[in-house]
Formats: sequence, C-alpha cells, structure tokens
Amino acid sequence: MRALASRRSDAHALRRRWLAWTAPLGMLLAGCATEGLPQSAMDPAGPIARAEDRLWDYVFTVAVVVFVLVQGLILVAVFRYRDRGGDDIPKQVAGNTRLEVLWTIIPAVILVGIAIPTVGTIFNLADRPPDEALDVRVVAKQYWWEFEYTGDEGQGVVTANELHIPTGRPIALDMHSLSAVQPDPGSGEDIVVGEPVSAGVVHSFWVPRLAGKQDVVPGHTRRMSIEADAPGVYPGQCAEFCGLSHARMRFEVIAHEPAEFEAWLAGQTEPADPAADALAQEGEEFFAGEGTCIACHAVDGLETATGTAAEVRVGPDLTHFASRRRFAGGTFRVDDEAQLKQWLRNPQAVKAGSQMPNLGLSDNQINALTAYLYSLE
Ligand code: CUA
Repeated sequence: MRALASRRSDAHALRRRWLAWTAPLGMLLAGCATEGLPQSAMDPAGPIARAEDRLWDYVFTVAVVVFVLVQGLILVAVFRYRDRGGDDIPKQVAGNTRLEVLWTIIPAVILVGIAIPTVGTIFNLADRPPDEALDVRVVAKQYWWEFEYTGDEGQGVVTANELHIPTGRPIALDMHSLSAVQPDPGSGEDIVVGEPVSAGVVHSFWVPRLAGKQDVVPGHTRRMSIEADAPGVYPGQCAEFCGLSHARMRFEVIAHEPAEFEAWLAGQTEPADPAADALAQEGEEFFAGEGTCIACHAVDGLETATGTAAEVRVGPDLTHFASRRRFAGGTFRVDDEAQLKQWLRNPQAVKAGSQMPNLGLSDNQINALTAYLYSLE
C-alpha cells in the first residue's frame, strides 16, 4: 500500500515538474511570435523546399508501411503462437533457404526504392542554378548574417539580417563564414577595408519553408539555392552551434513580387541622406568620429575624414538601417526605440559575445545616435 502511495506521489511530482518546465516554454514561444511562424519544413513555400518535402513524404510512407507490417507480424506471432502450456517443441525452421532468400531480397528492394528518388533529388538540388537566378553573397558572422547583391542588378547593396528576394525566381547563394573581429590594436595588423579579417566558425543557414540546411564552413564557398512562390516573410536562423549568441543569429527572407523587389533594390542603392534635424546631425557627427561607430559600420554617402565609410564591413552596413525590421541578429525590432537604446547602452548585456563593444555612451550620445539611425531610411 505504501509503495503504491509513494509511486502515485512520484507520478504527481513528475507531472508538476513537467508542467513547471513546459508552461514557461509555452509562454516564451508565444512571446517570440513573429510573422511567418511556425517555421516548418513540412509546409514548403517554394519549389526547392517542395522537392525535399516530397522526398520526405515518400520515405516516411515507406517507413510507416514497413513499421505496420513488421509490428503486425510480431503481434500475430505473439498471440497465435504463444505457449499454451503443452510441452511440444515447435517445428524448427532455421536454415530455411526460401525464407533466407526472401528476407534478404525484400529489404534490398525497399532500400533501392528509397535510394533512387533520394539520389535523384540530391543531384537535382546540387545542379547549378539557371542563369536568370539572382546572385547573393551570404556572409555568416558572429552572430549575424550579411547579404550582398553581387549580380549586375543591385551591385553593391548590402543588408544585414534580412534577405529580400523576388518571388518565382531562384536565388543563388554563395556562402562564406568570416569573422568580423577587429585585430588587436597592438598586433600591427590593419583591417583590410571591405574584407573581413579572418575565417570564422561553422554556421548553418536554414530557412525551413524555403530549403534544407546548409552548413557555412570557414575557408570554403558553399552554394545553395532558395526560391519562394509567394510574397511573405520566411524566418530563418543559424542551425549550428557557433558560440554564445548562436540563438540570437536569426534572419528573415522577405519575398516580394518582382516589380516590388526591383523598387526595393533601387531604393537600397541610394546613398544615405545627410541627417536633417539637429539631434540627428549630432548623432551623425558622433557616428563619423574617429574610433567610434564608423570604424566598423558602413554608411554609404556619409562623409568622413578618411572617406571609407561605404566600405568598412566589420559590423552591419547601416546605410538603410531604419528600413529594416530587426537588428542585432534578429534580437530586437528596429521600430522599438527603447530596445535600440538598450542595445547602444550595453550590447554585451543583451547579446552575449557580440562583437559590438560597450562604448560607454552617455544618455545624450545615445539619444543623438538613435535619432541619426532612425534618419537612415
Ligand atoms: Cu551561427 Cu549558430
């Protein structure tokens, strides 16, 4: 009796513990709700993801049939041939040639049936994208994504954490992993303008509704294609543990109708307008000062003493910062001023391991920088 009671209280404790773990998880997930969720590879939104999903459906169906047959036969054997108390030894079938041949051939046929469409799909997906594909260079950094439009159109447009694409057209991604770390001031190394400093770590690019994962490996160029059928926001993230803020290495693929995409791209090729109001001007001056933001962040069109503001690529290019939805690897919303100020005050406190240093900014400097960043439309 006592054993039973204690077992029951164990079960209760287990359920309580389960609730204690899952309830906040549910709240957390609800709190993180973004457009385009859930991210499901089983809800494909383009031809590449669809090819992968079809293959999955097929292999899963074969696996279910095999499972049901095998488990069914086990159940039949268990009930039909169970020991009924007699002591007759059942008929022995070891070494039955017909059975041996049969259960060698059947699995072989199943494996060939799975291998043919699998290998075919792998080869199709590995094909070079057609010439009309849009070329984008993807650079994975710790912990954010840089997208550069390298084709004839949109030459030089660089964004961070959001990849805008036209619908119905393959996007050829050329992927690299590079570290954005600045060399130690005492090391004698210089930043090569436009070139990240050293090889980074392994990341993985994953937009579940548009394509499978692709590891991005330092020292290698990895290629993959994505394509979206319809306009919309498709969230993605880094899917390979890459350091302290791996979980904050998110991004969004934003698909537009082709004409709308062209308009977006044309807007992005424009340099930034000089700051208009006094507070934003103050921010601009601070931004462009020696050893401040401009040491890492490009703003195309910003006049500086050294004239390199359009090329520095240690941190995200901020030319059109205010036109973006999120910043800091998808951690914060651009339209949330309090979050932007919190970030400027101490990036390390909200995104551990981020390569944006705590500059020890004053309230005035933060207000001015915020005004300036919001003027970068
Ligand atoms: Cu990058 Cu995880």
